[in-house]
Amino acid sequence: MNVKLKPLDQQTIVITGASSGIGRATALQAAAKGAKVVLAARSEDELRKVEQEITSKGGQALVVPTDVANRGDICRLADRAIDYFGGFDTWVNDAGISIWGRLDEVSDYDHRRLFETNFWGVSNGSLEAVKYLRRHGGALINVGSVASDVAIPLQGMYCASKHAIKGFTDALRMELEEVGAPVSVTLIKPAAINTPFPQHARNYMEKEPKLPPPVYEPEEVAAAILHAATHSERDIYVGGGGKLMSTLNKHLPRAMDRLSETLMVEQQKRNERPRKPQGSLHQPSHGGPVRGDHPGYVMKTSLYTRATMHPWAAGALMALVGAATVALLGGKRSKSTAATTPTTARAGLAPSLFNHPPVPAAQSPGPSTVGTTNQAGGGI
Ligand SMILES: NC(=O)c1ccc[n+]([C@@H]2O[C@H](COP(=O)([O-])OP(=O)(O)OC[C@H]3O[C@@H](n4cnc5c(N)ncnc54)[C@H](OP(=O)(O)O)[C@@H]3O)[C@@H](O)[C@H]2O)c1
Repeated sequence: MNVKLKPLDQQTIVITGASSGIGRATALQAAAKGAKVVLAARSEDELRKVEQEITSKGGQALVVPTDVANRGDICRLADRAIDYFGGFDTWVNDAGISIWGRLDEVSDYDHRRLFETNFWGVSNGSLEAVKYLRRHGGALINVGSVASDVAIPLQGMYCASKHAIKGFTDALRMELEEVGAPVSVTLIKPAAINTPFPQHARNYMEKEPKLPPPVYEPEEVAAAILHAATHSERDIYVGGGGKLMSTLNKHLPRAMDRLSETLMVEQQKRNERPRKPQGSLHQPSHGGPVRGDHPGYVMKTSLYTRATMHPWAAGALMALVGAATVALLGGKRSKSTAATTPTTARAGLAPSLFNHPPVPAAQSPGPSTVGTTNQAGGGI
């Protein structure tokens, strides 16, 4: 897939979920870079505040109150963008919501509503956007999650909806590519992000919900979305910690199950009573700022994500790590050669440099990857 996309200051971008969190951050960042933005969500009052913030700085925005679960609303959203701005170049399906609770405790009514928003909202938005984009070219960006790859306890139907979004997005990309449609289709997979997401969720637990670590700031997701609006990318993980979880889950699924069972139940509970258990599953949230109030450590940037978006940076980082490794090995080797015979020094310290058989894992320096140079803790 190599679709040519316009620079942001020549684009009109439709964003669902623009009243809060990641969608709101994306709208503000896009407008600051000169894009015209179409703001969609159910909370018109909050969308007006975003519009006001954008226009007060000289930007252009259009508010279209929208329930993404309603195909009629989505058709109207596309029509309004075309009437008002003459079309659109990028469409971002960001609107989404979760439920915290065990699968057998949650009502069918709530489970179905979650799927209506998360899965059918993305399907409605994608199919409507593609009607226009396949004729005019542009980018479709769907916000999935690390939960598109990895399931976690207490958010079962949310994970199912995000897995479904991945299947849908991958199939749509192939169908468009196969007929040569000029549409870039990207799936964004954020790790846990510090937005009001847990407070907007429907909550069945006896405690207020909390995001499991590692947690990143929403501006990092917005930057990834805007990167995909200008560069044709298949998918982007936001947060090296999320990429690590996905990789471990692929190669060690049972170990990851056990780890999640052991850690993830308690890690998703705050030590406080539920604030608003109904959340905004069935009614507008009436907002939320961009950032939430996550009680633990929040990473401002993900070096992993930045490196994947800028291969030259990844290359430079790899080169630095490589140089540091070689310097380290060289230093150790010269010290060792002074104290031991050459053979024992080579066999014990730097097997790959001297073509000896591999040493046990504990002694091996291991392959250097961009990911392992990232933040301490969860980030790779
Ligand atoms: N925060 C995380 O940890 C995280 C991690 C991975 C992926 N994500 C994904 O990122 C996306 C944005 O989440 P966020 O963290 O920014 O949460 P958020 O702050 O709660 O924002 C959710 C947005 O979706 C909108 N929305 C919900 N239901 C809607 C509906 N039926 N129709 C139209 N809009 C609706 C909300 O607006 P109204 O209430 O005004 O309608 C709000 O603007 C979601 O798809 C989420 O699954 C989040």
